Amino acid sequence: MAKRSIVITGGAGFIGSHVVRLFVNKYPEYNIVNLDKLTYAGNLANLKDVESKPNYKFVKMDICDFEAFYDLMQREKIDGIIHLAAESHVDRSIKDPFTFAKTNVMGTLSLLQAAKLYWESLPEKFEGKRFYHISTDEVYGSLEFNDELFTEQTPYNPHSPYSAAKASSDHFVRAYHDTYGMPTIVTNCSNNYGPYQFPEKLIPLFINNIRHRKPLPVYGKGENVRDWLYVEDHARAIDLIFHKGKVAETYNIGGFNEWKNIDLIKVIIKTVDRILGNPEGHSLELITFISDRPGHDARYAIDSTKLHKELGWEPSLQFEEGIEKSVRWYLDNQEWLDNVTSGDYQRYYDDMYKAR
Ligand code: NAD
Ligand code: TYD
Repeated sequence: MAKRSIVITGGAGFIGSHVVRLFVNKYPEYNIVNLDKLTYAGNLANLKDVESKPNYKFVKMDICDFEAFYDLMQREKIDGIIHLAAESHVDRSIKDPFTFAKTNVMGTLSLLQAAKLYWESLPEKFEGKRFYHISTDEVYGSLEFNDELFTEQTPYNPHSPYSAAKASSDHFVRAYHDTYGMPTIVTNCSNNYGPYQFPEKLIPLFINNIRHRKPLPVYGKGENVRDWLYVEDHARAIDLIFHKGKVAETYNIGGFNEWKNIDLIKVIIKTVDRILGNPEGHSLELITFISDRPGHDARYAIDSTKLHKELGWEPSLQFEEGIEKSVRWYLDNQEWLDNVTSGDYQRYYDDMYKAR
């Protein structure tokens, strides 16, 4: 196995921490650099189990800092970039679209340009290099309630400031391949769930609220559909695609696992109540329908056939097992939840919830 030097951006976040853990454990001969600005969503406690490994290092950096990133690439002789750093929450993007454009668009562009300049300065240039950009199915827009799925050919049609910014960054990544020959790959994944997800997203938020007997704010009628994938299966797909994926290709990643929000919420309630020893149905009374998210996409559903057929990826967990593992993890890790929800986040959440 060739020795590689890889920077993983956003490695202190939810998905990034699973990718860092997988790479650090699986590739002891690699140099793995976790680059993260540590925003409200980044937390080094997510990586306690790998922080002392000799092939791991953490660098606190903003992806918008072009000079610092160029220096880091030179210093660490980076030959692979797995780019996950982003502002990732749709509701925040509705309140503050500028931060999303800055990090998701300008930050990605800054990484692309630094990588281009550094790699072009080497004798072998782009040979053996990879710029792998992690994106979302939300760039494809919204599906009707029928059997249609997003494929790699579905035209982009983003609606939220979050998905508009991610779509823009995806286009920049592809433009760097088409214009300069940069060896890029883009993947678009469905909604992830599992340990270490910041509890502003549906699943961890609701588990935590049930435990604390707080209302469960369901947007609209709860009829929107999302396609859920266990985060470790996404991390395994990223590993496979980074090593075996074809340059300039796009791969959709998803588990063919669609759930209407309200049905998913009932599964979460049932699981939490069972584990906490509450009578069945005890927490259903916490469901609170509130005004809908503006521009709320009706349905996301991913067709990941290409990834299955070309690279042989399969999700390893059934949804029921994944939900059971996730609920148990959040109930067993109240200290982690308390740490990440203390202070600023708690005020932000209370304000947002009051406003609706
Ligand atoms: P997250 O919000 O949990 O983590 C984002 C990380 O990026 C944090 O550690 C944060 O500190 C860091 N970050 C933010 N701005 C930064 C900046 N300017 N410079 C450096 N670091 C910065 O997000 P996530 O859910 O783990 O998502 C990771 C990536 O995967 C994102 O690009 C997201 O668009 C994509 N994605 C997420 C999902 C999902 O369901 N969560 C699905 C598909 C794709
Ligand atoms: P979320 O986890 O924010 O992911 P995304 O918006 O990127 O899909 O939301 C998942 C679904 O749950 C989405 O349809 C919005 C809905 N939702 C609620 O009904 N209430 C909530 O408090 C949150 C956070 C989300």
